[in-house]
Amino acid sequence: MGSVDNPSNDNVRRMFDRIAGRYDLLNRVISFRLDAWWRKKAVSAVVKSGHEKILDLGTGTGDLTFAAGKSLHVQGKVVALDFSFKMIQLARVKQHNRKSSRTEFLQANALMPPFRDHVFDGVMTGFVLRNVSDLRLFFVQAFRVLKPGGRMASLDMFPPSKGLFATLYAFYFYRFMPLIGGFLARDRHAYQYLSDSVRQFVPPEKVSELLEQCGFEQVTLQRFLFGAVCLHVANKPNQK
Ligand SMILES: C[S@@+](CC[C@H](N)C(=O)[O-])C[C@H]1O[C@@H](n2cnc3c(N)ncnc32)[C@H](O)[C@@H]1O
Repeated sequence: MGSVDNPSNDNVRRMFDRIAGRYDLLNRVISFRLDAWWRKKAVSAVVKSGHEKILDLGTGTGDLTFAAGKSLHVQGKVVALDFSFKMIQLARVKQHNRKSSRTEFLQANALMPPFRDHVFDGVMTGFVLRNVSDLRLFFVQAFRVLKPGGRMASLDMFPPSKGLFATLYAFYFYRFMPLIGGFLARDRHAYQYLSDSVRQFVPPEKVSELLEQCGFEQVTLQRFLFGAVCLHVANKPNQK
């Protein structure tokens, strides 16, 4: 189970490098600013005491990381990685502007995160699953770096369930969104890919199953916007 036509890591990385400069603007426009609210939900699933050490996989320009950073106390930390150099560069500029001392950004592949086993209290990821070439390996690595008892939260877009909303969404997201992307980011191809990656992605229940196959327990699934956006939360058992 992976992304649309299993695009190579290199193609995906190059595409995100290309759209990085307009990524935040497009996010706000396309989601009508709802993304900030969804991110808060994901953060509250992994940040409990505020002293946690959290890993953000595929951080992009860092919005999920900064949202978590705000909820942490002085001992807490968010380490964020992305394989797109341009995304990490922009995240570091935002980090500097926001004087965000509890965040750290590095360029790395989420399928080979450069960390020892059992080091993070929480792992989170936002809108990344559809883009990774090996989703199982992605979750296996997330599981590996989590401490026993740690939590994983994944926020992503899925094809919404059937009904009127699904029809309206299909028009907006599959037809209109690539046009907006073409206009604002000057890259219709990239936004066509992102739109196709949602249309062709697996149902959220399959992601829940995969999380369980990778060793996670107590997997929960929360749906927003009639299932167009879902939050998976899963626990790493204490004894593993
Ligand atoms: C749609 S963006 C999401 C960015 C951010 N998490 C957010 O919530 O806005 C997907 C990001 O995942 C990154 N990505 C995809 N596959 C990756 C991988 N194997 N390793 C590291 N980053 C990856 C891309 O470079 C891109 O920045």
